[in-house]
Amino acid sequence: MNPIGHTIIRLHEVVSTNTLVMETEHYLAQHGLVVVARHQTGGRGRIGKKWVSLPGAQLQFSTVVHPKIPRDEVPAMALMAGVAVAEGLERGLGLEPTLKWPNDVLLGGKKVCGILVEMKTDSAGSPRVVVGIGINCNGSERDFPAGLRPLLTTLEHHAGGPVELDQLLGEILPRIEAWQERLDAGGKSEMLEAWQGRAHLGGRKLRYPTPQGAREGRAVGLTEEGYLLIETPGGGRQIHVSGEIEWL
Ligand code: BTN
Repeated sequence: MNPIGHTIIRLHEVVSTNTLVMETEHYLAQHGLVVVARHQTGGRGRIGKKWVSLPGAQLQFSTVVHPKIPRDEVPAMALMAGVAVAEGLERGLGLEPTLKWPNDVLLGGKKVCGILVEMKTDSAGSPRVVVGIGINCNGSERDFPAGLRPLLTTLEHHAGGPVELDQLLGEILPRIEAWQERLDAGGKSEMLEAWQGRAHLGGRKLRYPTPQGAREGRAVGLTEEGYLLIETPGGGRQIHVSGEIEWL
């Protein structure tokens, strides 16, 4: 299999690197292809949210992965990508990121990176996955729209100086490859351990959405699928599969 990043397509501006790759069959067919954009006019986040693009100041890219895991295990790849980014920030920049379920990377409790994992299947039903990663690299928190400033941060703010985007990409891609190889070889529990080690979940109070409205509980940890296990106020346990959680 070709390494992740064997081909890197660099775009000045695109609507969304994820959309481009998802809609371009010959991109999706190439495991390891990476599309990087300096600016996205319609960057997408999870659950229909928008990704705010600051031209030239962020690392925004999508990579195609043809995993060997079954389709229903693909959601765990979002956690895997979070671990790969966190390791890249730790080893490359000496930072100490934390992870927020399911796939945000935080510095000082504020989001510095978002991850959007999307999937199609080929004619044989095998997954073709697009791992989209956006990292707020340079500039300050004041560069974001006022309403988002309390929530978002940049690497530069924490690293004390500007970050070289290509160097950071070079830190992250081999880590995606290594972790994906582990997942493909049945090493999900190892990946979940690496994720939980940076998430400090145990006992934290949170609010989570349910079809009946928001509920409060405490995070217990992850299930073996990578879902969030929550203890309800009555002492019961609930598995939270998707939807934004809020720490209390
Ligand atoms: C989120 O925070 O909910 C996920 C944000 C993911 C943003 C990245 S930037 C590169 C790729 N292209 C997109 O349109 N989204 C992802």
